[in-house]
Amino acid sequence: MPTVTQAIILSPIVQPDQFSHTGQQKTMINADREGWLPAVASDQLADGSATECVIGDHIVAIFRSEGDLYALDAMCAHQGGPIAKGTVADKCVTCPWHGWQYELATGVQTIHRQKLLNCYPVRECGGQIYVRVN
Ligand code: FES
Repeated sequence: MPTVTQAIILSPIVQPDQFSHTGQQKTMINADREGWLPAVASDQLADGSATECVIGDHIVAIFRSEGDLYALDAMCAHQGGPIAKGTVADKCVTCPWHGWQYELATGVQTIHRQKLLNCYPVRECGGQIYVRVN
């Protein structure tokens, strides 16, 4: 019986009129069968750093902190500040605009203990960081 090998093809589809609020070009990439989308190359996200990616219809902040990866909404629930530019300490990020603080793992705002940011599954494989937004 012949062996069937399935290939997962991730083909980028760039639409020139789609840009994020930071001016980054949106890149829409087909998800694999489990919905994982490539977000950023592993070597572009050193420990202690963060980046903002447009993944499908979502703007996602991805953090690598103390060896762990986190992905959550990139816009602060207060007034839309850039979460990826916040400072990280004790597994929390502080928004650079007015100081709201969120737990990286849950999106919970630490003062009122409310989940105000969505979190997304994130994984690293073959030199690439993937996020699943749906
Ligand atoms: S926009 Fe983030 S604290 Fe105000």
